[in-house]
Amino acid sequence: MTIAAVERTGLLGKLIDAEQERFKTLHPRSAAAWQEGGRNFLYGGPSHWMRRWAGGFPIYVDEADGAHIRDIDGRDYIDFCLGDTGGMCGHAPEAVTEAALCQLKRGTTMMLPTEDSLWVGAELSRRFGPKYWTLTTSATDANRAAIRIARMITGRRKVLVFSGCYHGGVEEAHVEIRDGRVGMRNMIHPNGVDHDAVTRVIEFNDVAALEAALAHGDAACVLAEPLMTNFGMIPAAPDFHRTLRDLTRRAGVVLVIDETHTLSCGPGGYTAENGLESDIIVAGKAIAGGIPAGVFGLSRETAERLWTLVPHVNPRERQSAHLGFGGTLAGNALTIATMRAVLEKVLTPANYQRMIATATDLADSIRELIAANRLPWHVTQIGARAEIMFMPRQPRSGADVIAGRQPDLETLLHAFYMNEGILVTPFHTMLLMCPATSAHDVERHTAVFVEFIDLLRRAGVI
Ligand SMILES: Cc1ncc(COP(=O)(O)O)c(C=O)c1O
Repeated sequence: MTIAAVERTGLLGKLIDAEQERFKTLHPRSAAAWQEGGRNFLYGGPSHWMRRWAGGFPIYVDEADGAHIRDIDGRDYIDFCLGDTGGMCGHAPEAVTEAALCQLKRGTTMMLPTEDSLWVGAELSRRFGPKYWTLTTSATDANRAAIRIARMITGRRKVLVFSGCYHGGVEEAHVEIRDGRVGMRNMIHPNGVDHDAVTRVIEFNDVAALEAALAHGDAACVLAEPLMTNFGMIPAAPDFHRTLRDLTRRAGVVLVIDETHTLSCGPGGYTAENGLESDIIVAGKAIAGGIPAGVFGLSRETAERLWTLVPHVNPRERQSAHLGFGGTLAGNALTIATMRAVLEKVLTPANYQRMIATATDLADSIRELIAANRLPWHVTQIGARAEIMFMPRQPRSGADVIAGRQPDLETLLHAFYMNEGILVTPFHTMLLMCPATSAHDVERHTAVFVEFIDLLRRAGVI
């Protein structure tokens, strides 16, 4: 079944308008709060990301608990967005809340370690492979630090990334290939940074392009998610990671694997599930249960290269050697306490098993509906995370997503979902499970997805 392209824009536009009107009617208090916020916040809310929801404005949260959010209009939502991953532990998980309360009473940020940090360091190495770790306040910061270190130890400037990637507020990665040209990533406004000077961008899974890019000899690092999660979901082709590792090693290029989103795969992320080897590994978001935190870990070899520039422990060098990135609040006692609670009590093997089983049920139910209705869509599941994409096959690269993506259909689905009490990540259709996501939540999602298909059919879109 195909969807008629010409008619689609008009029809979908009308349906989106209708859903946004319904959204306004259902959310008078959030609408008023949004108006008020616009008077003092640069982009309406405390973060510019909060304006990206498909209803036209965000719901204002009264309370969040487990897999559910209640807004100030008294409406309840099943939250499959989970703070775009930061809430993967579920909202207000007891173990994290208790650890936070306990630590808050004993001091939050002293720029000194607590003993809990010893447990956390050992656990990070146990999960992700032996590494030398540093904490940051976000995954963005962890990526920036990884890039800085890669430049220090290689003496090279460029960061090699894959088109369609997102690694947070990392300037070097704000690029993509569109119509054969390199430009700013979709929807990021240019700011005068000369990406030619600092970045190489190629398509994911393109080994020939990778070889050619590395042959220039100017890349300090490859910065990559193990599979791409920020442009819909783009799986790695079989053997791509082995090739990526071989080629970067041969070229003396630092391989940075960003596991921030792929923590959904299991206790040690995609890396542990698939035996990846990286020089630097990065994670963040969910890792401290929603308390701002990132981590990056260096392999022994990478750490030793760095230590030749900035000595490991040398009291005489105390004032002269530092790494050139910030983070006064990084690794503070509160973060460490909550990270310990997450790793010890929330993101446990048993909870992963549960989350992944729930995601499998959800993905299977959508797949069945897609097949039964002969729709040209697909679902990809990676651990506790599922992605609905309005294209017939899994993309192999950013170019495939650009060619096949249907942004209006995504907007309509998201607005419809919100009106029916379901939240998904606003940037693409990602549904994430937390330990508290229940079979009932999945059933409700399936029922709403059926209603969405009916809506499209009644409107003549499909
Ligand atoms: C893969 C990946 N890395 C890093 C980041 C940055 O995370 P944060 O915005 O929490 O710094 C993101 C954000 O979405 C991400 O998707």
